[in-house]
Amino acid sequence: MNWGQRAQDRLSDIARCSVDGEGVTRFPFTSQHEAALDAIRSWMSQAGLQVHMDAAGTLIGRKDGPEGAPTFLIGSHQDSVRNGGGYDGIMGVVLGCLALEKLAADGNELPFSVEILAFADEEGVRFPTALMGPRALAGTFDPAVLAMTDSDGVSLRNALAGFGGDPDRVAALARDPAKTLGYLEIHIEQGPVLEAQDTALGIVTGICGIERNTVTFTGDTGHAGTVPMDSRRDALVAASDFISAIHDAAKKVTDLRATIGALSLHPNVVNAIPRAVELTLEIRALNDTVRDDFARLARSLGDSISDGRRVGFSMERTYEQPAVQCNGDLIDALSTATGAICPTAPRLPSGATHDASAMADLCPISMLFVRCEDGVSHKPEEFAASDDMDAAIQSIAAFLVALEV
Ligand code: HGY
Ligand code: MN
Ligand code: MN
Repeated sequence: MNWGQRAQDRLSDIARCSVDGEGVTRFPFTSQHEAALDAIRSWMSQAGLQVHMDAAGTLIGRKDGPEGAPTFLIGSHQDSVRNGGGYDGIMGVVLGCLALEKLAADGNELPFSVEILAFADEEGVRFPTALMGPRALAGTFDPAVLAMTDSDGVSLRNALAGFGGDPDRVAALARDPAKTLGYLEIHIEQGPVLEAQDTALGIVTGICGIERNTVTFTGDTGHAGTVPMDSRRDALVAASDFISAIHDAAKKVTDLRATIGALSLHPNVVNAIPRAVELTLEIRALNDTVRDDFARLARSLGDSISDGRRVGFSMERTYEQPAVQCNGDLIDALSTATGAICPTAPRLPSGATHDASAMADLCPISMLFVRCEDGVSHKPEEFAASDDMDAAIQSIAAFLVALEV
């Protein structure tokens, strides 16, 4: 059986559950999400799992182990970024289902219960929040996020309810840590390390922390033809100073990434001086203190630039999740399981965040990376080879068989 080819076929099928356009665009609680759940339901059933959707919109496939046995969780997210790739997130659901199918085909019964989790929203693209599904299971869900709205003014509460979820029962989904053995997330690496080392798989040691800030520069608008250059308070000129300063400062800090990914101008017309600029500043680091220090530096850069350009400056943190470490025993177990199949699998940190970042508040976490062609992700060219996914499925099956309760 070529498990990797079956994975490739399933990923090609579900990539069609997308808004029209380049790559994959599948946001949570949309018709694209609904179509994706139909496919995932069938895969979970083929793996012999009992399937239901929980109040947070997570599709859960469960196979009971012996009475009273704890549960091991495997999962990732079904959603994508806009015009993203066909592997980010959904690969973890596909490979998890196929690994359980392989165990059943090999006649292996596990001494614990096992669940496959297809989380609704990890990217946080539609709503200015993310990870509702894993946070609900971890007991860290903040009901205040239900009031957040998307760009059409639809609240997360109404989107979830309209999708068949139950906003008022999300908080009750918290799992008992004592009955949770651990969590494994299989994910495309989204970076160049495994390809550079010419190896199919990697074992993740930890996941970076992340924060997102809204930065605003406020000057004054005016007629583009009549206001003299030296009397302008042009918000866009200040913002461009800030963008370059942030980029140059971040290059000097090891294992830190700073990205200004979205920007909006007001009044945003060709013949008026920009009065206000709002941009997003995302900061990631493997060490939370390094990230905090850089956020402080960003604020001081903004203050000095705004003074020099005679404009206003504000920076408000809108989202944060701390760096998390993967569990040492699970890392060792994954290393052993991959050893026979991919002996060169390295241990490496993750610069991307994942559902595992939130699951770390519930139980020991682990992640298995699959090589990513050209290291590209969050774009249509994202690709993982069938043979690499086959190696991952073999490794996951071996990992589960060797896992002790
Ligand atoms: O942004 C991330 O790291 C993840 O892909 N949401
Ligand atoms: Mn992802
Ligand atoms: Mn992603």
